[in-house]
Amino acid sequence: MRQGNLIIKNASQLVTCSAFSAKKGREMSDLQIIEDGTVIITDGVITYVGKDADCPVLSDFPNHKIVDATGKAVLPGFVDSHTHFIFGGYREEEFSWRMRGDSYMSIMERGGGIHNTMTATRKATFDELKEAGRKRLDSMLKLGITTVEGKSGYGMNKETELKQLEVMKALNEEHPVDIVSTFMGAHATPAEYKGREDAFLDYMIKEVMPEVREKDLAECCDIFCEKNVFDIGQSRRYLTAARNLGFKLKIHADEIVTLGGAELAAELKALSADHLLQASDNGIEDLAESGVVATLLPCTAFSLKEHYARGRYMIDSGCAVALATDLNPGSSFTNSIPLLFALACIYMQLSPEEAVAALTINGAAAVGRADKIGSIDVGKQGDLVILEFPSYKFLPYHIGMNIVEKTIKNGVVY
Ligand code: NIG
Ligand code: FE
Repeated sequence: MRQGNLIIKNASQLVTCSAFSAKKGREMSDLQIIEDGTVIITDGVITYVGKDADCPVLSDFPNHKIVDATGKAVLPGFVDSHTHFIFGGYREEEFSWRMRGDSYMSIMERGGGIHNTMTATRKATFDELKEAGRKRLDSMLKLGITTVEGKSGYGMNKETELKQLEVMKALNEEHPVDIVSTFMGAHATPAEYKGREDAFLDYMIKEVMPEVREKDLAECCDIFCEKNVFDIGQSRRYLTAARNLGFKLKIHADEIVTLGGAELAAELKALSADHLLQASDNGIEDLAESGVVATLLPCTAFSLKEHYARGRYMIDSGCAVALATDLNPGSSFTNSIPLLFALACIYMQLSPEEAVAALTINGAAAVGRADKIGSIDVGKQGDLVILEFPSYKFLPYHIGMNIVEKTIKNGVVY
């Protein structure tokens, strides 16, 4: 991937989000902003962050491109830490059914939902999935996303799970947006294993997971822990097997009913527990204590017309909260960062500062990369966004509008 030399001068706000691990609770309000700030990136890595007045003489950097950020805010690139962006087909009919009153789970239970996308993804060729994925990545880059997590889970057999992960590997090599891949073989039980969930998990654990590991196709492993999908015992078994193989853990937890997924994530020291609309007080306390990132997906709650996860309460309880789009063809067919900011602030009562921390340093922590990305710190990757406006406060305020003027990836301007 290209590594650029770049100086961004005189930003009205350099929103550094400085940290090398997740910001928890009240720390999320402290974005460590430098006014009239300058950043220097050399060979793709940040080498100077500070006041413009104190920055080294520019004539010492003859090979650096210079961008004047007067009147603009500069932030770390956004980290979308939960998506399912490689999929075949669409589910626009199901959206209409849901607007008529059908529930997400009832559509899935009668063979639609995830099963519908599984059939289309099994049918799609490698190249079809890759081209669709590339377009989605192009759109992400325009919205300021510099790292995205992507899950498999629309194959539910070895061939297609590997195909999805290989598509992400190829795209990661070709596209500026970094992709963190997650193996999610346990997304639902396919028809051929209906009623035999444990046998299906055995197949995933014994036949698929080790091959994913051997081929180094995913860093993380995830499961849909939910009533009528995989219960706590099954999730513990699958995630423990994944951990033993060296995967970092993530879990779709307590989305539709309170099952104890948050507690399980804390017990297993997962990177993150995601969704959490129905997480119990106890589960939230466990997440805060264990430092497992609570990843909230307000676009999904909006799309499914559910109430929102208790973001305010989680931060007040000391959790590290991350925000992500959950881009997928069913429950959240959007990768809109502007919508995400607006929903998080308006409906989950996050402050603009907390929302920024949630989509930068805490997103980075949710993919296990807080030491490399998520803040503007010396030594980190030169991944930044330049806004059209002088303050980060415009992100939730300019509702639904993309105010990212430029996205910088490894010091290269896009
Ligand atoms: O995070 N809840 C389970 N998985 C996805 C949805 C996948 C789909 O509907 O295709 C989610 O919302
Ligand atoms: Fe998801």
